[in-house]
Amino acid sequence: MRLQGKTAIITGAAKGIGAATARLFASEGARLVVADRDEEKGREVAEDIAAAGGEAVFHACDVGREADVRSALDATLRAYGTLDIVVNNAGWQLNKPLLDTSAEEFEAVLRTNLTSMFLFTKGAAKIWMEQGKGGSIVNVCSTFAVVGSPGYAAYHASKGGVESFTRAAAVSLMPHGIRVNAVGPGTTDTPGLRDGARDTGDEARGMASFLALQPLKRFGKPEEIAAVIAFLASDEASFVTGALWMADGGYTIV
Ligand SMILES: NC(=O)c1ccc[n+]([C@@H]2O[C@H](COP(=O)([O-])OP(=O)(O)OC[C@H]3O[C@@H](n4cnc5c(N)ncnc54)[C@H](O)[C@@H]3O)[C@@H](O)[C@H]2O)c1
Repeated sequence: MRLQGKTAIITGAAKGIGAATARLFASEGARLVVADRDEEKGREVAEDIAAAGGEAVFHACDVGREADVRSALDATLRAYGTLDIVVNNAGWQLNKPLLDTSAEEFEAVLRTNLTSMFLFTKGAAKIWMEQGKGGSIVNVCSTFAVVGSPGYAAYHASKGGVESFTRAAAVSLMPHGIRVNAVGPGTTDTPGLRDGARDTGDEARGMASFLALQPLKRFGKPEEIAAVIAFLASDEASFVTGALWMADGGYTIV
């Protein structure tokens, strides 16, 4: 098992890519903190993992709030005494054209999608430095870090920031034995994607319009993104840092 003996905190793990990552990590032997603001679904994921013989606890947390990030990291140390991996996955996509987006909305997207990653990275790095050990961070980025589209200006900005922050953090923290990488999911069939399709006014038509843009003529599955996250988080990727690994069915190369 690739993550045997590792302790991981996964944000946004109540649903979608985060939940698939939590299940995969548990099956690879990791002990988990499932961190999310959705208490009901988050508890369900942790309970399912425990029922299947894995180790997971739920912690309620809004990743954009510094006090919540601190308390999620403290809860991890209380539960397991240590921390090895942080998966910064929580995020949301504001479906609004640039000209209709308020400054408050723009900043709220940045807070959840980008500032959260800074807060978890800084907090985890301090723990690792105090404990005299290294660690591994995987940030969930997006194809939208590197392409533009008309409807999601704040989201594009946040994910471009994630790509750049990942490199800066990797360089800053390499002297401390901390690796920082990112995965760039393409269009992946999750509750979040379906919310986005509903925002267009008609979920079925929205999903069909997203599908029409896919080079492989299908969406990604959350498990396909989780597989890349698990690799980057694990010691198998010990020589990989500062990378953005696209898992997008070719979306950004055609
Ligand atoms: N699904 C896609 O097509 C796609 C594509 C590219 C990137 N991504 C990225 O992947 C990540 C996961 O996306 P998903 O599609 O699985 O989303 P999802 O909406 O299905 O799940 C996101 C989870 O994050 C949680 N969350 C959101 N804001 C939070 C906050 N402030 N504090 C704590 N928890 C919070 C939600 O409660 C939810 O459980 C996001 O960062 C997203 O931007 C998704």
